[in-house]
Amino acid sequence: MSYPRKHLLAIEGLEPPHIADLLDLAESYALLNRSGKTQRDLLKGRTLINLFFEDSTRTRTSFELAGKRLGADVINMSVSTSSVNKGETLLDTASTLNAMHCDLLVVRHGQSGAPSLLSQKVDAAVINAGDGTHEHPTQALLDALTIRRHKGRLEGLVVAICGDIAHSRVARSNMHLLTTMGSRVRVVGPPTLIPAEAARLGVEVFHDMKAGLAGADVVMMLRLQRERMSGGLVPSAREFFRFYGLDAEKLAHAKPESIVMHPGPMNRGVEIDSAIADHPTRSVIGEQVEMGVACRMAVLDVLSRQLPRNR
Ligand code: NCD
Repeated sequence: MSYPRKHLLAIEGLEPPHIADLLDLAESYALLNRSGKTQRDLLKGRTLINLFFEDSTRTRTSFELAGKRLGADVINMSVSTSSVNKGETLLDTASTLNAMHCDLLVVRHGQSGAPSLLSQKVDAAVINAGDGTHEHPTQALLDALTIRRHKGRLEGLVVAICGDIAHSRVARSNMHLLTTMGSRVRVVGPPTLIPAEAARLGVEVFHDMKAGLAGADVVMMLRLQRERMSGGLVPSAREFFRFYGLDAEKLAHAKPESIVMHPGPMNRGVEIDSAIADHPTRSVIGEQVEMGVACRMAVLDVLSRQLPRNR
């Protein structure tokens, strides 16, 4: 198992063998979870703290479940953003966590770079659970695992990531992971929601859904992150759906056996039609959640191997 770091702060910078090894380990945890078995001795005596400065349903609960399935003591700390005085409070928090001898620290924060800052101040291994518009590495891992289970590979696949790319840490981590693993990544959305750096990341840019979805193996839909927008970058939800919402007509341009993904939370009728979100064969949204637990178990496992014993 090759993983070169103490923390998992981003996908950017990881090389194909690191990603492939993490996915292989996550696959073994997916099978273990389906068998109903657990491995409660692996993180026995370790403390995992979930430190969430932003709302979360899936990510927080799946880290909690992953930690518990591996035997860790799990503590959830939700901090309301309004009471946070950025840098100073973060660093105060860091010293508190150090005093608690936390081994694994899962952090979600509205500011890009916050988990990285924390990682310089705590003894624990830090996992970025989403920072601002920057990265959400475990989401990209679970997306890649879900794709690999359905398509058998990542290399050469055409993956269309659609909607609000500019404000999405999910899109950014996926762009890094999928291009590193040899997928052909497209981003599809209105010009106001495509980041300037898209070309530098080696992805193709489309402003039209039909062209962007043509021949795609994977269609990944994203929510409009209105909380991160500083003005009216999109017209009405209704108009957005008309041009960029995934419905049967637009999906017909992708390959007939293509899969539909969404990291959640979904806004039905805005970026995705309910009939597609709930489609029995094309939608793999439920499986993404399942793979989330497996991927987070793999990440906790790998990072804990590098921690000193008896802290
Ligand atoms: C995403 C996030 O928080 O970045 N959700 C998630 O982790 N499953 C996407 C979003 O909030 O739209």
